[in-house]
Amino acid sequence: MCGIIGYIGKENPIDILINGLKNLEYRGYDSAGIALKNENEIEIIKSVGKIVNLEEKIKNQELISANIGIAHTRWATHGKPSVENAHPHRVGNITLVHNGIIENAEELREKLKKENVVFEGETDTETLTALINKYYKNDPIEAISNALKEVKGSYALGILFENSNDLYAVRKDSPLIIGIGEKENFIASDIAAIIDYTNKYILLEEGEIAKINKDKVEVTKDKKVVDKQIQVTKLERDAKDKCGYDHYMLKEIMEEPVVLEKTFEPYLDNLEKLPDLTKYEEIHIVACGSAMYAGMIGKTLLEEYANTKVEIDVASEYRYKNIIYDRKTLVILISQSGETADTIAAMRKAKEHKVDTLAIVNVKTSTIARDSDAQIFIEAGPEIAVATTKAYILQVGIMALLAYKTALTKDLVKEEHKVLEEAKKLPRMIKEVLDRREEYKKIAKEIYKSEDVFFIGRKIDYATSQEGSLKIKEISYIHSEAYQAGELKHGTISLIDDGIPVFAIITDDTIKDKTVSNIEEVKSRGAKTIIISNETWDNQKLQVVVPKISPYFQPILIVPTLQLIAYETAKLRGCDIDKPKNLAKSVTVE
Ligand code: G6P
Repeated sequence: MCGIIGYIGKENPIDILINGLKNLEYRGYDSAGIALKNENEIEIIKSVGKIVNLEEKIKNQELISANIGIAHTRWATHGKPSVENAHPHRVGNITLVHNGIIENAEELREKLKKENVVFEGETDTETLTALINKYYKNDPIEAISNALKEVKGSYALGILFENSNDLYAVRKDSPLIIGIGEKENFIASDIAAIIDYTNKYILLEEGEIAKINKDKVEVTKDKKVVDKQIQVTKLERDAKDKCGYDHYMLKEIMEEPVVLEKTFEPYLDNLEKLPDLTKYEEIHIVACGSAMYAGMIGKTLLEEYANTKVEIDVASEYRYKNIIYDRKTLVILISQSGETADTIAAMRKAKEHKVDTLAIVNVKTSTIARDSDAQIFIEAGPEIAVATTKAYILQVGIMALLAYKTALTKDLVKEEHKVLEEAKKLPRMIKEVLDRREEYKKIAKEIYKSEDVFFIGRKIDYATSQEGSLKIKEISYIHSEAYQAGELKHGTISLIDDGIPVFAIITDDTIKDKTVSNIEEVKSRGAKTIIISNETWDNQKLQVVVPKISPYFQPILIVPTLQLIAYETAKLRGCDIDKPKNLAKSVTVE
C-alpha cells in the first residue's frame, strides 16, 4: 500500500502533490509528507493522519520555492504512524518516498549502524535511503542499482539526489507509472493521482530506472536505454467526483446497474468470448477479502450447476501451501486492483508450476492484468471508497456467466434458470433494489447501537452472508460474523442474547426450510432477526424482499441491500465511511 506522487516541471509542485495525495489516500492514510526541491535546497514537511492535516501544516508555513517535489501517503508496516516514520525520508544526499516492504531491512540496518549511520525512525524505508546514500558518489543510477542489489522485498521509489535536478524512479512488485505532460512530468502509484494533469503515461517495468526532468524521461536497464511506449488512459477526470453523493461508497453502489450492463455487454450475445472451463479437470479460485467472497459465489455456482470441481483459498494461504497440481488445473485470480501482493504471489506460484491463470480484474494496467495468461475485465471504472462494492458485484456477475457457460457446454442448464434472458433484466432489477433506501435506513436504525451482529445462510446464501458481514464490520466497526446456518449451534449460539441482531439470508429454495429452523433457534434465545430473501415471510417484522431471479444472479440482488444497510449503519454511527480506520484499498504488502 502507501501512495506515491512526484512532480518536476514549470509549476510550484505543492498543489499538484496535495491533490495527487488526496487521490491516492485510498492506499493508506496513517501519515503523509512532501519534499520540495530547488537548485539549492530540499525541504520536507510531514504530519500524522490524513492529508488534510498535512495541508493545514503547509498553509501555516513559509516554504521554499521549488519546481521538483515528491510526496507520500502511508499505511504503516515497519514502525508506528508518527512524524519520524512518515515519508519522505532523508539520509545524507538522498530524499525518497517508498511504497512496499524491504524484507531484509533489519539485517541491512545492523550493517549500516556498524558503518556509523545514525537512524531517526524505525522504518525499512529509512534503511533503504541510507543504503542508497552509502553508494552515492555523484552517479544516481549507479547508487540506485548498487543499493538495490542488496535489497530483498518490494518497492516503488521516487528519489531526489542533493546534487541533481532530476527525479528518479524505480520499482519492483509495487506499482509505479510515469506521467507525461507538457514541459512537466510526474510519477505516481496510480494514473488516477495525476489524471487532472495528463492522461499519458509510461509503465515502468522491473529492473528499469527512470531519470526524469521536465522535458525528458530516460529509462535505462543495466545502463542501456530502453525504448518505452507512451500509453493513453481512458480514465475520465470526473470519475473521481462524488457527483452529489455524500460518499464515494454510496455513489459506487448506485453505479452498480450501469457498470454491470457494461461488463456483461461483450458476452451476453457472444458467450464464446469467455474461456472454456471444461478444458480443465479442476479450478482453483484465489483472491483476498471481498474478491475471495465473490469467488465463493463462483465456486458454489460452478459446483451446483456446472458439476465442476473447484477449490478456493485466500491468496495469503495459497501462496505458501503445498498445492497438489496433479490434474489439469486453471487458477482463477480475482482482484479489483490487480495489485494485491498475495494474489500476485499466488499467480506467480501457478505460473511456476506451469498452470494456466485467468484473471478477473478491474485495473487493466495492473500487474495481474499484465502477467496472467488470460483476462476478463470488469468495467467498474475507478473505485475510490476503500470498501469495495461495485467491483464485487461485477466479479460475482462474471463468475455467474462463467458458471453458466460451463453448464451450457456440459449440457446441464435447467430451462427454468433462463440465465441470458434474466442477465439482460438484471441492471434494471438492481436499480429497483437500490431505490429502496428507506427500508435499509429502517434496518440500520435497528442495529446501529449493537456491538455484535451475526449473519447466517446456507450454500450460496452463506457465501453472500460473508460479504454482508464483512461490509458491516469494515465500515461501521460493529463486530460481525457469518456462519453456515447449521453450524451456529456448535458454539456460537452461546453468544446469542436478547436483542442481538441476526441476519438470515434465504434465497436457495432447496435448503430454505433448514435455515428457517435455525432462525427459530436464535429467535427463541432473544435474537432480533432480519430476513433478507426473495420471498415474503409472514410474522417477520424486519425483512427485505428482493425480486426472485435465476439462482445464478440472486446474490447480485441480495448483496446491494447488505451494502446499503452497512452504509446506513456506518452513517448513523458517524464513521468515516470512505476511509475506514486501519484499512487500505490496495493491499500491496503481505
Ligand atoms: C482490501 C480491500 C478489499 C478488497 C481486498 C482485495 O482489503 O479493502 O475491499 O476486497 O483488498 O483487493 P483486490 O484489489 O485484490 O480485489
